[in-house]
Amino acid sequence: MSKSDKAHLNFNNQTVELPIRSPTYGTDVIEIKKLGSQGLYTLDPGFYSTASCESHITYIDGREGILLYRGYPIDQLAFNGDYMDVCFTLMRGELPNRQQKENFINKIKQFCPIDKQFSSFFTGFHPTAHPMAMLISVVGALSAYCHNDIDVTQQKDRETAAIQLLAKVPTLAAMCYRYSIEKPFISPDPSLSYAENFLSMMFDRDENKPIDPVISQAIDRIFILHADHEQNASTSTVRLAGSTGANPFACIAAGIAALWGPAHGGANEACLSMLNEIGDESHIETYLARAKDKKDPFRLMGFGHRVYKNYDPRARVMQKTCHEVLEATGSHDTPLFKLALKLEKIALEDEYFIKKKLYPNVDFYSGLTLSALGIPMNMFTVIFSLARTVGWISHWMEMMNDPTHTLARPRQLYLGPKKRDFVEIDNRK
Ligand code: SDX
Repeated sequence: MSKSDKAHLNFNNQTVELPIRSPTYGTDVIEIKKLGSQGLYTLDPGFYSTASCESHITYIDGREGILLYRGYPIDQLAFNGDYMDVCFTLMRGELPNRQQKENFINKIKQFCPIDKQFSSFFTGFHPTAHPMAMLISVVGALSAYCHNDIDVTQQKDRETAAIQLLAKVPTLAAMCYRYSIEKPFISPDPSLSYAENFLSMMFDRDENKPIDPVISQAIDRIFILHADHEQNASTSTVRLAGSTGANPFACIAAGIAALWGPAHGGANEACLSMLNEIGDESHIETYLARAKDKKDPFRLMGFGHRVYKNYDPRARVMQKTCHEVLEATGSHDTPLFKLALKLEKIALEDEYFIKKKLYPNVDFYSGLTLSALGIPMNMFTVIFSLARTVGWISHWMEMMNDPTHTLARPRQLYLGPKKRDFVEIDNRK
């Protein structure tokens, strides 16, 4: 049976014909823009069935557990490429050739340093402040330094802002960590790769000792796995902020703020806290019962996803990477990892999780991996923010490059009081 290219909506004795559009992959959409002028809106809190934009960047098949960055499967990119390949591809649409990649990396290296006076922003924080609170502030503060030089209507300026963000966010992320442990900041080292440079700005090390390639590859892979994920909550936040013409550094700060929540990017930190709280295998059943109890707000962190109703393909790569890191750091026998494996096994065999198609997502193993790398829990979502910056800025550029893009301004279903007159205070009840 041929697919319809039109939908017909009958209401108020009229029929409105709406175009149906088909994607490269995925679900057809009904274009409803003109519905407003016909006197009807649609309501979809949480956007379960609503596409907010057209995009060429990332595709997720939630049923099959597939993730493509510009058509390339995530496992192929994670095992055969590196984060710079992924950044170039997400931003420009194609894998870079050798010269393009070298030029791209050199451009980023130029912008890694942060102006000296920038470190004074940190003195306003207590060292115990959550690094995500610091990161939101200092990335937003970049707009104070770069606002006058950037005209968001010019593609060249948009490109420069994108490169500046890819370059400076890792430096700022490491500064948040160093400030939180009350240690001096470490400057970027242009002789190192992107992942090695981040590690070298995070941890004191013997300059003569090379960084363990298993560790730097694990960090690079974590960056790749978290780089983009189509219209998730934080990316949609960046697109919404960008649609007003706001400064790109401020838009990315908004994305970092949205990512922080435990239902979204904060789940890796929440997952490790949950594993620590469960403590040992004898408590697993109690926590699973709580996760299934409608009256209990507890959710199994690292499980479930708005789109994936199958295994998150990133979780499989993350699990393999986790094993490699635990092996390399001699911590594969950690009780926490064993508890995670046991919890995953029990949950995957549990009727509730099977029926609701709740599988481990990327956050289930990323926290364990970062913890094995010696990174504290309160830095997990900072690292997610670092990795996702390229996805956010790629979507921002895709939107800004489209001359037809417009201000995003949702409507509502108003259920408030009818019009009524003001009441003087002495006449109020
Ligand atoms: C990320 O969007 C993205 O792409 C995000 C992300 C990215 O890369 O940007 O992939 C990153 O955010 C991954 C998700 C990380 N979050 C967590 O791990 C937190 C735990 N997961 C849940 O909070 C939940 O699964 C959500 C919020 C992630 C998704 O929930 P939905 O899609 O809003 O689904 P829902 O709340 O409608 O749940 C459907 C049912 C509900 O039960 P019923 O009302 O049908 O009885 O499943 C239940 C939920 O109560 N459920 C869970 C559960 N997740 C959903 N029950 C127990 N534990 C869970 N984790």
